[in-house]
This record gives sequence, C-alpha cells and structure tokens, in this order.
Amino acid sequence: MSGELVVAAPAKINLFLHIGEKRGDGYHDLESLVAFVACGDEIRLEADDGISLSVDGPFAAQLGSGDDNVVLRAAQRLAERSDAQSGVRIMLRKILPVAAGLGGGSADAAAVLRGLVHLWNIETSREALLEIAASLGADVPVCIGCGTAWMEGRGERVRPLPQVPKAGVLLVNPGVPISTAQVFANLETRRELGMLSPQTPFEDLYALVGFLRETTNDLEIPARRIAPVIGEVLREIAVLPDILLARMSGSGATCFGLFATDESARTAGLLLRARHSEWWIAETVFADVRCT
Ligand code: C5P
Repeated sequence: MSGELVVAAPAKINLFLHIGEKRGDGYHDLESLVAFVACGDEIRLEADDGISLSVDGPFAAQLGSGDDNVVLRAAQRLAERSDAQSGVRIMLRKILPVAAGLGGGSADAAAVLRGLVHLWNIETSREALLEIAASLGADVPVCIGCGTAWMEGRGERVRPLPQVPKAGVLLVNPGVPISTAQVFANLETRRELGMLSPQTPFEDLYALVGFLRETTNDLEIPARRIAPVIGEVLREIAVLPDILLARMSGSGATCFGLFATDESARTAGLLLRARHSEWWIAETVFADVRCT
C-alpha cells in the first residue's frame, strides 16, 4: 500500500545495570551498557487523518490498545511539538513479551518517533527527538539510536559506543510480567556510580564477557523477590552447553545468555525449550545496524 512505512523496533538488553541514589524526581540514577538484538516488535505506519493504533501478534492480548499506550503518546507528542498537520495509523505487531525488561514499549515508541519524522517529513534535530523520547520514559532515548550505548542519568544520557562483538544471544522469559516501578520500590541497596570506564571497542566477545563479569544487574535481587522464577531461569541458562554469561535484563523477568556463535545459542534454545515449553524463548544475535 502506498505511503506505508515499516519500522523495526529491536529489543534492548541491559548487559549490566548498576543503580545509584534515588533522585528528587523519584527516579534513580543508573549506569548501564545497552545492546540491541535482531529480534523485536514490528511497526507499520500509514498516513491517516487522526492518530490511531491497532495491535496484533502473539502478545497483543497482554497489551490492548488503550489511549495510554506509550506508542500513541509518542505520536501525539511529536505532532504537538512539530505542528504536523497529518495523522497516522499505527499497526503494531507485538512479538516481544510485555513488561519484560526488554524495553519493548520503549523500542516501539522510539520506532514510531523515527518513522514519523520520515512519514510526516519533519525537520527535527536528534536532540529534539531525544528530548521527546526522554519525556516518554527512561528507556526511550537509548532506543532512538538502537545501537550499543552507555546509558546514565535516569536513562536520558546516552553515549553511543562501537557495536559489541558478534554473539549468539538467547532470550528467556518465564511469562511473568513485572512492573518496573515495583522492582525499583523493592530495591534495598544503592551503589556509587561513575567508577566504570569500558575500554571500547571490546577486542572480542571474551573481552566483553570479562568486563561484564565485573558487573551485575542490581535489579535482579528485587525482581527475584517479586518473581522467584527468575532464579530458576538464570540457573537453567547457566548450565546450557557453551554458555558464556547468564544475566537478567532491565527490571526482568527476561534473562539472557551469551554464546560465542548463533549456532550455540540455537542449540541451547532447543534444549531449554524441551525442558520448559511454557517459557518464551528466542534465539537471536546482537543487531549489527544502528537506527539513526
Ligand atoms: O520511565 P519509566 O516509565 O520506564 O519508569 C518506570 C518506573 O521505574 C518509574 O516510575 C520509576 O519508579 C522507576 N525508575 C526509576 N529510575 C529509573 C528508571 C525507572 O526509579 N532510572
């Protein structure tokens, strides 16, 4: 159909996530190395009179298409800021589990912003787009570029880094949606930030994994208190053949495993699926393109 734009919304992974003090605005300072994978929701945009959203795909039922959807807010905010005269019909195929620590909604919102700049033919700077992104959620700015990045502040300070080395990546979600706000509310420890400075580009995957072993995801403990099954997911990933690192992403419950090759990740995925057919399991690789 003419005028239709297809935009990718790749999932983000927090390779590590350290949390500092709670700030005056209620958010926490954080520090995170973020990478994107070749797996995510799909979005189609079509010029229309008003702004509307329809959702399909395996996880559509968990999301609904309510007026508060961050994807709709992204389009509305860009329209307000840019004086765009046109509307858009947003068709979202929800492939990633919802409230899963993969930045799904944030990636969708960022993809809509990127796509609408083209569809509506808007003149805007990257900074202006990042500002709108930050107003939509802490993870949205990093999803604008959707490449490897160092993330600080409450998430709005994003420094693009050279892409992480090639790797096979296994994503595993036990089917328990988790509220990010609730995980932060259960956080009992805070750490001093600003001590890490990665030597990038990482020479190879082993250099990356060596760096990551010195780090952790501070949200794992509070998330496991809410959803103890996360502990089982991590234990299961950690014993898969050829696993290099097993860790939770974001506020969970999705955990990831890193492997030297996509073939190892696929083999591991087959084994795990045979043991846990009730879990969502995706075999993928780090994405090798940036969006902007
Ligand atoms: O910005 P977003 O809606 O993704 O954040 C959800 C909730 O997670 C926030 O309301 C806040 O409670 C918590 N949060 C935080 N510090 C951050 C990011 C999120 O406390 N840096």
